[in-house]
Amino acid sequence: MTGALPHSHVVVLSGAGISAESGIRTFRGGGGLWHDFRIEDVATPDAWRRDPEKVLAFYNARRRQLYSVEPNAGHRALAELEKDFAVTIITQNIDNLHERAGSTNVLHLHGELDKARSTADESLVYELGGKDICLGDTCELGGQLRPHVVWFGERVPELERAEDIVRRADVLLVVGTSLSVYPAANLAFLAPSHARKILVNPEIPDTVGLEAFECLGEPAAQALPRVVEELRNR
Ligand code: APR
Repeated sequence: MTGALPHSHVVVLSGAGISAESGIRTFRGGGGLWHDFRIEDVATPDAWRRDPEKVLAFYNARRRQLYSVEPNAGHRALAELEKDFAVTIITQNIDNLHERAGSTNVLHLHGELDKARSTADESLVYELGGKDICLGDTCELGGQLRPHVVWFGERVPELERAEDIVRRADVLLVVGTSLSVYPAANLAFLAPSHARKILVNPEIPDTVGLEAFECLGEPAAQALPRVVEELRNR
């Protein structure tokens, strides 16, 4: 195992757990969003066809909450890493807390809550600035706007780019994800053998392949400042 060298490439794969201490609910586990909502009702193309109003209400509520919470010490520690390393954050999260903490290179695998996309032309993407999307809100072509998120059953457009990034990692930090949603979870296992691999999660997932990781069974806001300081001082 090799440590981080100056200018090495640190890749972070983050999930809902990194935002838990900011007050955003995770999806699974106790108190997870998927206990109160059915994926089939709010996060699939079928749900959108059946009841777009319900889907919009779900994401509008998430978006409103986004602006009542702040990045936590975990997000901020990852932003600090940019002082010493080339850092890419690949996040499954649709919140913008990595960016608000100061990270400048964030790839959103599952889309972004604060953006809308045209249903007439998927290349038309709009900043929402915290505003709701309502039925009747349209793009310049007249197509209804939808959340700019990847629903279950949809392809993950950024997947190949994310795979290439992980394959070039010298350090891979996997933080706050249950590793239960594919294809995102596969990314955790694509780093080269020389890469140092660290996992942060108070409940270490029971996933094959984690033997190569240093597993820290702690909340992100507690573990990441220490991990980042250690990487920076090597
Ligand atoms: N610090 C770090 N990890 C935490 C913390 C914390 N403070 N609190 C909870 N966790 C961990 C949980 O133990 C769990 O393993 O975060 C993980 C959250 O898992 P999920 O809710 O499944 O979230 P995630 O892995 O990001 O889900 C992937 O599923 O529903 C879809 O599209 C959604 O992007 C999401 C995808």
